[in-house]
Amino acid sequence: MQNNTFSTLFVGQNLIKLSAVDSTNNYLKKLASNSEPLAEGTVIMADHQFAGRGQMNNEWIAEAGKNLTFSLLLRPNFLKVPEQFLLNIAVSVALNEVLLKYLPSGLSIKWPNDIYVENKKIGGILIENVIVGSNIKHSIIGIGLNINQSDFTGELKSKSVSLSQILQQDVNLMALLKEICTQIEQLYLKLRAGMYTNLKELYVSKLYRLNKVASYTADGKVFEGIIEGISNEGLLKIKPIDGETVEFGFKEVAFIN
Ligand code: BTN
Repeated sequence: MQNNTFSTLFVGQNLIKLSAVDSTNNYLKKLASNSEPLAEGTVIMADHQFAGRGQMNNEWIAEAGKNLTFSLLLRPNFLKVPEQFLLNIAVSVALNEVLLKYLPSGLSIKWPNDIYVENKKIGGILIENVIVGSNIKHSIIGIGLNINQSDFTGELKSKSVSLSQILQQDVNLMALLKEICTQIEQLYLKLRAGMYTNLKELYVSKLYRLNKVASYTADGKVFEGIIEGISNEGLLKIKPIDGETVEFGFKEVAFIN
């Protein structure tokens, strides 16, 4: 276990820093499946990922040494499989709250777990759960945040933004990681204590396009609708302007700009 100065109980207490790896999620997944028990809260961070992974088999591309790319091990075995969205809520809200200290306006959570500033993505979360029976044995929580990258290429140029682009100054990566670990731990402990009603309300209140008319596509059709919230399982509730509210799963609906 490596020592660090994080004032947390367990998140980030075992911090492993790598200069390069395929994906911190892959690395942590292998480590967690070894016979040696790995401490809950272990964080793997990398300066560079050469095969970083995003949601829906997308790549996660981040300039080496400029961003936060890390994975965290949690053991939320108090959550049943249908409740797994609660972990997503806790992590998304934690990231949103830390970034709020730097960016007082424009932040939101694009369902299910993209962190947005206005209409651009500043971060994403890839949670990979290992399920045994009806409970979650452990979760690999991969987080990518655009921090000091000054330029994005290709299609990311119009879609992504970094903290330093907005603030016009660089931010200390380790200090930010420490704040994130602290905030995730606080919300995770709330979850563990069963105090998630407020957390869910907070998450919904931060949703990108909440209560606004916007365009979506589902089943090959484009429609206008209003995000109303989420179901207990984390499905997105959209009310089409000319119809009844529909609940969508992750791959069933796409946002149109
Ligand atoms: C997304 O928005 O698509 C999720 C992006 C998650 C990226 C992070 S970076 C650290 C961790 N390792 C990976 O390979 N992916 C996650």
